[in-house]
Amino acid sequence: MTIYFNNGVYQNKEDVGVSIDDRGYYFGDGVYEVIKIYEGQLYTAHEHFTRFLQSAQKIRLDLPYTVDEFMEIAGKLMVDNGIVEGHVYIQATRGVAPRMHNFPGIDSKPSITAYAIDNPRPLSKLKEGVAVKTVDDIRWLRCDIKSLNLLANVLAKQDAYEAGCAEAVFVREGIVTEGSSSNMFGVKDGILYTHPANNLILNGITRRVVLKCCAENSIGVMEEPFTLEQFNDMDEVFLTSTTSEITPIISIDGRTIGNGEPGRITERLQHVFEQTIQHPSHKLN
Ligand code: PDD
Repeated sequence: MTIYFNNGVYQNKEDVGVSIDDRGYYFGDGVYEVIKIYEGQLYTAHEHFTRFLQSAQKIRLDLPYTVDEFMEIAGKLMVDNGIVEGHVYIQATRGVAPRMHNFPGIDSKPSITAYAIDNPRPLSKLKEGVAVKTVDDIRWLRCDIKSLNLLANVLAKQDAYEAGCAEAVFVREGIVTEGSSSNMFGVKDGILYTHPANNLILNGITRRVVLKCCAENSIGVMEEPFTLEQFNDMDEVFLTSTTSEITPIISIDGRTIGNGEPGRITERLQHVFEQTIQHPSHKLN
């Protein structure tokens, strides 16, 4: 039996009713988070729920819980569903109201739903790496918000899958921004490159862990925009996300990166990342 969280109530999945008038359903008018569970513990949950509240605030959505309360909800879902290796998914929409674009009145409350689910680590991809395909970044200019509105991301990922690739890489005016559900990194001459955390990308929690690992291991980092040409010419390339961790990229648009195997610095960062999993109380700051 799977227990879901639905607006303050814990209930069976089958009993969670979602209204046809929910603004998440009409407009994708809401925000979400994905939090990893390793060995029965939430990983960087404080950072995820802080970002969740920030995303909500950026779309002018007031949520009735604090970071600590969200952490309790996620922890209960994890424990009650017996999830040891998996993730928590949580979303908040602007609630239920007859369809109109402008915000509903104060009577309408946010709809908050969450669940915990089994999801093993992608071990073979972590070891062998994946292929990626570049696509035009046709998204809006607030990619810093973890919005439910993911149509451009869905289309990009499908393009990549149809080309036999695991991820789509967004390119905006010649600049590599991020993946359809991940952040992008390149290594050139021992220096790590990644797009700065501005409005054009989501500032990934895994991205932040990687940057912290670099600082602690004397790996130089340039948080500066780089072109697709530079990306193709990197010695190593990898992507990061909550569920993909640090996944090596071995080819871009069919062109092999380096010798077609995960790079040395990528593997070193994977190793350091593993250590943060074993100490899940690990804080970013
Ligand atoms: N995606 N960029 C985008 C557009 C994302 O959707 C994600 C995460 C990331 C990486 O963020 P983080 O390291 O905090 O997971 C970057 C999640 C996992 C998803 O949509 O399933």
